[in-house]
Amino acid sequence: MEEAARGSLLDIESLEAAELLTLLRSARRMNPLRPRPLLRGKRVVLLFYESSTRTRSSFEIAAKSLGAQTVLVQASGSSIEKGESLLDTGDTLRAVGADVIVIRHPSSGAARVMAAHLDIPVINAGDGMHEHPTQALLDAYTILQHKKSLKGLQVAIIGDIVHSRVARSDCHLLSKLGAKVVLCGPPELAPDLAATIAPGVRVTRHLEDALRGTDVVMLLRVQKERLAGLKIDLNQYIVRYQMTLARLKLARRDAIVMHPGPINRGLELAGDVADCPQARILEQVRNGVPVRMAVLARALGK
Ligand code: NCD
Repeated sequence: MEEAARGSLLDIESLEAAELLTLLRSARRMNPLRPRPLLRGKRVVLLFYESSTRTRSSFEIAAKSLGAQTVLVQASGSSIEKGESLLDTGDTLRAVGADVIVIRHPSSGAARVMAAHLDIPVINAGDGMHEHPTQALLDAYTILQHKKSLKGLQVAIIGDIVHSRVARSDCHLLSKLGAKVVLCGPPELAPDLAATIAPGVRVTRHLEDALRGTDVVMLLRVQKERLAGLKIDLNQYIVRYQMTLARLKLARRDAIVMHPGPINRGLELAGDVADCPQARILEQVRNGVPVRMAVLARALGK
């Protein structure tokens, strides 16, 4: 396969720790309230084949804060509905003058296929059940606002691991930067095999085991749209795994609660956990903007 253009961001797995730290450092210098015209005259195309609220709006605000123009192309309402292929769509967007393409797609590997085909940088905004690299970066950025370092930190990721591109990207990033990751959920959602995602990752079925001594409690949405064929009893899930304020007490007293969103109150977490003082869920969303500014600036060599 052809190589992706310089500045592409397709996954976390293939990046070195040093590159990740450089991106995080660059994000810390970005301030959406003080726009910098680093990308003036550039066109950022947001190509979304799947629904999105946070990722899409923060990429758009990030691009505009850097002075770029943005164009949103969604599957519904575009020629994708008429059967245009992924690569033909890529060629079309390149021909109208895209300088970078941010793509979200339901198939794992779609961003890499697009990047191999085009001579402009491609940024993966979530591909199927594979990776969501900018989410992992903003997660690390958020953790580092509250904890001195990721080295030796214990991070429990609880819920629907198997369908989660966020969990995969987080496992890679956190393990590269020295954190210990514990994945927790029922076998259908957190299979033993998940421990092989990255070095130093372990799987447990027991919430208490995952929570004891943990610095970060990261909850994942139960992805109902991807559960077809799996025998998941959601009531059982709630009984065993729903995060409640009482259960949260098992974690370290200074533990923070995270969730990539969208949250399902009353399913993976009780509503009062989402609103408790330890919750950093909206901070994560806010941090998506400077992180994506850094990723877009890197894409265009700034
Ligand atoms: C997630 C996604 O789409 O991967 N959300 C996000 O981008 N913050 C997670 C999800 O859909 O549950």
